[in-house]
Order: sequence, then C-alpha cells, then structure tokens
Amino acid sequence: MLPASGPVMGKDFFNREEEIKDLLRLLERENIVLISPRRYGKTSLMRELGRRLSERGQLCLFLDVMHIDAPEDFVIELATAAFDVTNVRKKFAKSLKGAFIRLSTLFDEIEATVAGTGIKVKFRKGLNDEIGKDNWTEKGKNIFDAIKSMSNEKPIYVVIDELSECINNMIKRKKNAKKFLQWFRSIRQQTIQDLRFVVGGSVSFDRVVRGIPGLPLINDFKRVCVECFSREDALKFIEKGFIEEEIEYREEIGVKIVECIGEPYVPFFTAIFLRMTLQEAGAHITKEIIEEAYNSKLLGAQGKGYFEHYKERLRIYYDEIMAKAAKWILKKACVDDRGIPKQLAFNLFREATGTVDEERFVDLLYDLENDFYIKFDGENIRFQSKVLRDWWRLYHV
Ligand SMILES: Nc1ncnc2c1ncn2[C@@H]1O[C@H](COP(=O)(O)OP(=O)(O)OP(=O)(O)O)[C@@H](O)[C@H]1O
Ligand SMILES: [Mg+2]
Repeated sequence: MLPASGPVMGKDFFNREEEIKDLLRLLERENIVLISPRRYGKTSLMRELGRRLSERGQLCLFLDVMHIDAPEDFVIELATAAFDVTNVRKKFAKSLKGAFIRLSTLFDEIEATVAGTGIKVKFRKGLNDEIGKDNWTEKGKNIFDAIKSMSNEKPIYVVIDELSECINNMIKRKKNAKKFLQWFRSIRQQTIQDLRFVVGGSVSFDRVVRGIPGLPLINDFKRVCVECFSREDALKFIEKGFIEEEIEYREEIGVKIVECIGEPYVPFFTAIFLRMTLQEAGAHITKEIIEEAYNSKLLGAQGKGYFEHYKERLRIYYDEIMAKAAKWILKKACVDDRGIPKQLAFNLFREATGTVDEERFVDLLYDLENDFYIKFDGENIRFQSKVLRDWWRLYHV
C-alpha cells in the first residue's frame, strides 16, 4: 500500500532527482536552509539525502527539533542523534569523555559493550544532569568536537528538521533564542571545513527571527526552496500508484486527480488523495468517483486533520490582532479563484485591527505569502493552493 503520511525514503521516494543533485552540489561549499510550507516533502527530501550520503560512506546525523524549546535541550538532542549512530558510538563516547566527567563510567560501559536501549536512557539522563542553562554553549561545542571525531570522511552532515519551530518555541518561552542563534552561527563558522548543516522548517524563518532581531544570524545559509511536484511528475506519481496497486490506469483518471488537487501539486495532498481514490473504487475508477472522493473525503471529515494546521498556525504564530486580520482577508479571498484586490484586503485589515499602519499591512501580506496562504497576482491577492482554497471556502465562509 502507498505510504501517505510520514516521510518517505528509498523506493517510496518519488523522483526529486534534480533537487537531490542540486543539494549535493551546493553542500560541497555551503550550509543549506530548506524552505517550504508544510507537506511539500522537506523531511522526505532530507531523509533521502541522508540515505544517499550514507550509501556513499559519509556520516549523516538527523535530528527533529520540533518540540525543543531551550538551547540546553537542543544540545542534548544533538548528542543523542550522534549516540544513535551505533557503528561509531564508541568513537563518539570516547571523544566526549574528557568533557563529561560525571558520565565517564557510562562511557567505559559503552566502550566495553554493544549496549541496548537501557544505555541510551542512562546517556540522556547523564546529559540532563551535566548540561544546563549555564553551560550549554561550552558543552554543545564539546559535542560538536566529538561529532567531528566520528568519521575521517569529511564533511560530516548534520540535518536538523523543524529548526524554525524550535527557535519559535525558544522565543515564546524566553529561552535565549538570540544567544542560541549567535552560538549556532559561530559553530558553523568554526566548523566549515568539517561539518555541513542542512536545516529546515515549515514556518518562515524570516518571520520567526524578525522580532529578536535575528536575520543576520541566519543569512549565511544558502536558501533552497522545495517546490511541489510539477504536473508531469504528479501524473507519473499517480500512474505509479495505480500500477503498484495493480489497478488499470487511464490518462483521463490521472488528469482528473490532478485537476481536483489543482496547482500547486502538493506531494502530500496528491499522495493522500490518490490513496483515497484507490481505496474507494477497487478495480474500476471513474471521473465521477474521483470527484465524489474529493468532495466527501479529502474535503470531508477524513481530510480535516490535514488542513486544520493552516488554521491553527494563524493562532500559534501570528499575534492575535494580525491573526484576526489574516482570517478576515482569507475569508474573502477564498470566495473567488481570482482572489480580491489588495485595496479591499487593506480595508479589511483596517477594520479588523483598527489601525491604518500600511507597513504592518504589507508585513502581514508578506507573512501570509511566505507561509503559503496567498500569492500576489497583479493587483489581486489569491490563495496559493486550490485545495486549501476549496477547504477554506467550505469551512470559513
Ligand atoms: N518525494 C516524494 N515521493 C513520494 N511521496 C512524497 C514525496 N515527498 C512527499 N511525499 C508525500 O508527502 C507526505 C509529506 O512528506 P514530508 O513529511 O516529507 O513533508 P514535510 O514537508 O516534511 O511535511 P511537514 O511540514 O508536515 O513536516 C509524505 O508522507 C508523502 O506521502
Ligand atoms: Mg517534515
């Protein structure tokens, strides 16, 4: 069965050959930030990249920091990701020995055994005892030094998923986000010969760091946008799904599916809708069945969880008054495919916020564009994604 949620790798990972090639080329010199909205396939791309690098014999660490909200926890997560690479765990532990005195008996244990899950729990506990808000910069540096010693094949790759969320958490919890960004920047400068970073996040880095202000602390990253599937790729992806399920594929069926999803062909929506269609009809699929599945399943209760995030995100990441203005604008913009004139959006903004501050209005539109709700189309603003617009129209008008 086709995987539909969660990152995909290996044989389930469809195409993206150009992107992988570009990333590998850029990584020869630069650290990279991957930019895209939710569900465009960032994690899959990062995982697949890691898999290919490992195949070439390069060491690649992967960490997901979505729920991390303090620098000391980030550092512990980093050490755990290195610890998880079991074939070089002993090397890593040995290099940490000098810096983590209280953990040294545990390191002796690690060196003597191949160790099971119990040792990982002890390791994290030990790190928790030794790393705190007063020493995380120094301990974090020690951990990076130990990571450098894990392989002679340089560079070693460190892939960090959901970093913008992590920074946002730190800002919200007043946990030294700026100091963390300064420290991380200096780590990148010091390790450019040996380490290469790929970071990603589903919310706009620019907006998250704007208030600190932190843009100069991340502008060394090369920005790479992860795009959606092209129409051609979406069609090939659908055909592959039919073939794998041994269901007869006809071009008109593929075309109908991509028409329902509409541009841009978000990999996740394409995958999830394909799966719904295949489940729906067994061996005989018609255009009518697809239309029905789109309206009653993807835009129905089954799809709810996938779209709710876009609504929630306004509440979580935008301040209250801006979230209100955004909702008013989106509510009007979803009615017509062409969207609404910018001037009308400004009137809605004025009414919702009670201010005439044009700069804040422009910032809000910029945020909504970066977070992939809207796009500019001449003097109009409109929804970026057809499927999101359809959903918004159903539930927000
Ligand atoms: N290259 C791909 N081949 C096949 N399916 C893909 C590909 N990329 C993404 N998908 C589909 O999209 C879904 C989401 O992918 P992934 O988790 O990588 O996206 P993401 O951008 O990291 O999402 P999030 O913002 O939620 O973290 C996958 O479960 C899969 O169904
Ligand atoms: Mg992801």
